[in-house]
Amino acid sequence: MASAALSPVMLMADSKKLKKGDVAILQFLAAVELIESDLWQQYNELGGVNGGNPSYMAALQNMDGDMSQYISDNTDDELSHAAFLNAYLMAHGEQPVILDMFRTLPSSQAAGAQQIGRLTNLMNLTVDTSFYTRYRSALNPDLGASFPQAVTIQNQPAIPLNNTDTPPDTPQPIPPTSKPARRMQAIANTAAFHFAYIEQGGSSLYPTLALQVTDLEVLRIVLSIGGVEIDHFGLWHDKMGNAVAQPLAGVTDPETGVTFPDLNSPPAEAVQTNLILPEPCAFLDAKGLPPCSIIRPTSSQLAGAVATINSFTQDQLFLHQTPGFFQTVMALAMAADSAKREGSD
Ligand SMILES: [Fe+2]
Repeated sequence: MASAALSPVMLMADSKKLKKGDVAILQFLAAVELIESDLWQQYNELGGVNGGNPSYMAALQNMDGDMSQYISDNTDDELSHAAFLNAYLMAHGEQPVILDMFRTLPSSQAAGAQQIGRLTNLMNLTVDTSFYTRYRSALNPDLGASFPQAVTIQNQPAIPLNNTDTPPDTPQPIPPTSKPARRMQAIANTAAFHFAYIEQGGSSLYPTLALQVTDLEVLRIVLSIGGVEIDHFGLWHDKMGNAVAQPLAGVTDPETGVTFPDLNSPPAEAVQTNLILPEPCAFLDAKGLPPCSIIRPTSSQLAGAVATINSFTQDQLFLHQTPGFFQTVMALAMAADSAKREGSD
């Protein structure tokens, strides 16, 4: 798909040479968008608007009737980001990022999944859910704060594994009663938390790298795509809350024991499910400035390119990937983090 999208691109007649740092940032973002496209495509095949797994779709739609549409649209967005970034690089005479040689991971065996090689692994995730408590806090991770998990999700699939574990025609009532229905609901709930986890990462990565861009047009690209990552995060932050609010709250995966409690009981602002807009928090380290509602973190250490790959790795998104894959994406990440905005002091 990537090569088909790239082939018609011609060098722009007036294309100027991009700065080395800007190229590194665009190439890393292209890699991240290819990774996002790969994972979203897996969700889309099974649970999107033309998804092939009715039980998974029903479990997702228990959170919101529009879930399948949102999954398909988020997938389209990521594919467009990857294709645009690579086309822009090529139009300026730079190398696009190709990760096709690393599409070696197996597909789900469940109804709906294409049997093709994948970049990412959605079948054994450990999802960092601390973004949920972070955005409800007045503290800032860039100033040293850390945040507890909202829900503990370890070694948990976010897509159905096969038709024996979760038969694709299983009814998904609220609450789920049968064992396969509880298993599938826990898998769908994990997906919803994972959607928000991935997109909050993009929400922080883009503004972090924007600070290192030199060229105004490249800055326009980074800010414009980055805004859509934030849009995605806001959407998923809202939808995933329905997995941990009544009437759906209280599902436990019968295989893994992962539990989605009612985060509104007892009531607590630190975890209340409809508090999805960022709490104003400390910003910058100057004394006396008032709290500000912002995206956070935006430090290279916590939200830069290497930090993003490390977080995805801890997520087990790259479980069973090859050493060559890690070398490639880490080299791109280190180059992006090393980019310096030229002309600044
Ligand atoms: Fe994206």
